[in-house]
Amino acid sequence: MTLKYFFFIKLLGLLMLLLTVGCQSKTEVASKTAFQGPISIGTWNVPEATSAAYQVLSEGGSAIDAVEAGCRLEEANEQGQSIGKGGLPDREGQVTLDACIMDSHGNSGSVVYLKNIVHAVSVARKVMEETPHVMLAGAGAKQFAIEQGFPVEDLLTDRSKADWEKWKETSLYKPIINIENHDTIGMLALDENGDLSGACTTSGLAYKMAGRVGDSPIIGAGLYVDNEIGAATATGLGEEIVKNVGSFLIVELMRQGKSPQEACEIAINRIVERTGERSKDFQVGFIALNKKGEYGAYAIHPGFSVTKHDASGNQNIPSPSYNQ
Ligand code: GLY
Repeated sequence: MTLKYFFFIKLLGLLMLLLTVGCQSKTEVASKTAFQGPISIGTWNVPEATSAAYQVLSEGGSAIDAVEAGCRLEEANEQGQSIGKGGLPDREGQVTLDACIMDSHGNSGSVVYLKNIVHAVSVARKVMEETPHVMLAGAGAKQFAIEQGFPVEDLLTDRSKADWEKWKETSLYKPIINIENHDTIGMLALDENGDLSGACTTSGLAYKMAGRVGDSPIIGAGLYVDNEIGAATATGLGEEIVKNVGSFLIVELMRQGKSPQEACEIAINRIVERTGERSKDFQVGFIALNKKGEYGAYAIHPGFSVTKHDASGNQNIPSPSYNQ
């Protein structure tokens, strides 16, 4: 073997070693940022809801079952005055619910202006699974729920009725920022198979006009899930979320390579830029989750938070916001 040939072989060996090391570190980075296990997140301080969802996930259940379980828990909680039973009514004293759900196959179901049925999220799921439609509204939604075996109940609790009667003394309509720190519940989950789903449920704005519908039952506005990329959901003044198709925007931003946090921030910034001074008077908050289990949260005003349950535990985390 000539000296030249010897050095050539040595150089080749060194190159191959460098290539192998390079590939190894790439795999390492990928595995560090890859799927880290199931996670459930929810808007606001909802540890019981994220815990119920995570319980489903930790038993190997699906993301769709997890988000439904979490939302159901809040819908049944009469203390919460913005969801399900005990929700504050419209100006006429009627409690009307909006909800939607979206699974990892791109299927979705919604109910709009649903009266007298506590678990709007489960009716939305039935719309998705048992009908050829994606949305049912009003009397038709209620009739469908009854046919599906949902019990009929008066959703107006004594407390919410008393608050409405007090409101009628002035009848002043003005959205309140962070009402009770517990507005619409939006939930997102990533299951053991790496599949994403989401759900969103609300009684809408307190003392809204009869017939008013917000963002929560509107796919793309209150919720969007793309199992290839990620999921997002919204809370706050539905009118502004609808006009910006906020949740769809966030998922598309994640598709373009933004992190869930960056995507939520861009969506909020856009609402603030479009509404200017008006944004001082209303709140919008978004949360997002990607396929790796990374999440983000951002709002216009302080006071919003995200609750996260994963293998490290159940935690409520204050959200950063545009205004400090
Ligand atoms: N985000 C709930 C609503 O505006 O109805």
